[in-house]
Amino acid sequence: MVPELASRAHMQNIVPVVDEALKQSAVKLNDIDAIAYTSAPGLIGSLLVGVQFAKSLSLALDKPLIAIHHMQAHVMANLIGDNRPEFPFLCLTVSGGHTQIVQCNGPNDLVILGETIDDAAGEAFDKSAKLLGLPYPGGPLIDKYAADGDPEKFKFPEPKVEGLDFSFSGLKTSILYFLRNAGKSNSFKEDIQVSEVVQKKFMDDNLSDICASIQNRIVSILLNKLQKAADETGIGNICIAGGVSANRGLRKSITELGRTKGWKVFIPAFEYCTDNAAMIAITGYYKYLAGEFSPLDSATSARATW
Ligand SMILES: Nc1ncnc2c1ncn2[C@@H]1O[C@H](COP(=O)(O)OP(=O)(O)OP(=O)(O)O)[C@@H](O)[C@H]1O
Ligand SMILES: [Mg+2]
Repeated sequence: MVPELASRAHMQNIVPVVDEALKQSAVKLNDIDAIAYTSAPGLIGSLLVGVQFAKSLSLALDKPLIAIHHMQAHVMANLIGDNRPEFPFLCLTVSGGHTQIVQCNGPNDLVILGETIDDAAGEAFDKSAKLLGLPYPGGPLIDKYAADGDPEKFKFPEPKVEGLDFSFSGLKTSILYFLRNAGKSNSFKEDIQVSEVVQKKFMDDNLSDICASIQNRIVSILLNKLQKAADETGIGNICIAGGVSANRGLRKSITELGRTKGWKVFIPAFEYCTDNAAMIAITGYYKYLAGEFSPLDSATSARATW
């Protein structure tokens, strides 16, 4: 992703997107009660476009402004629609930039119990896919190839991380060495081109099994910690959120684990898993009910981290 191009695309699209949203929902700008927007965390240029647009709209329409934490909104996506979890619930948020276990005690009362100390789960998928020569974003492709593969064929190590935190950088390294070794030629002459050909053939011949084994390990890392969190807190309402929650292996495994553990498992509709405006709106709705409005000052500006 090129940040400068991303922010230009935001500038080009923000007015048409808002127009189209108003048209599809048959709502007039003046019928809106408040303007909720993502202020952080994220790509600063893209956030700035949304923040300035939201602030301008709020000022022009004289409507209250509500700054939203992007990761809170991912969790809150589970409250869209009729099949909602009761409080308290645990949410495993697995996206391109974050991996968190969040305890949600109420709409505006969230506590992070654990998070990644290096790569996010989505990054683990994407970086593994890159090592396999697959295009970005590789997560959905690993999911696709894994469907026909044997998840037990290749064993990748499980990282040893204390508590409820995660680590995925070691997995990436182990995949790198695994593929490098697979390309080693047995000939005495260490010919780099020969070994690259052998490695490529190995990857092509075993793509489904490699993808299934990588996915299996990522899912087991996630679910082992989630299970630990559920055991420690005694909370049995379990949700997932973020782009990686679209992964079929994760959805299947969390559903099966939930059945054996007696959890109530909630998985948002696919369109609410990846970034979407509805999750910002639902978070804004609960903040509106609680009277949590944001001033127009710098505290509500775009920030890369929060
Ligand atoms: N079916 C799938 N299997 C595995 N990974 C997937 C699947 N679908 C999407 N992903 C991964 O989800 C990630 C994108 O998720 P999302 O859009 O929620 O992240 P983001 O919004 O960029 O990150 P953040 O919210 O942390 O800032 C990518 O890493 C992508 O590979
Ligand atoms: Mg996101």
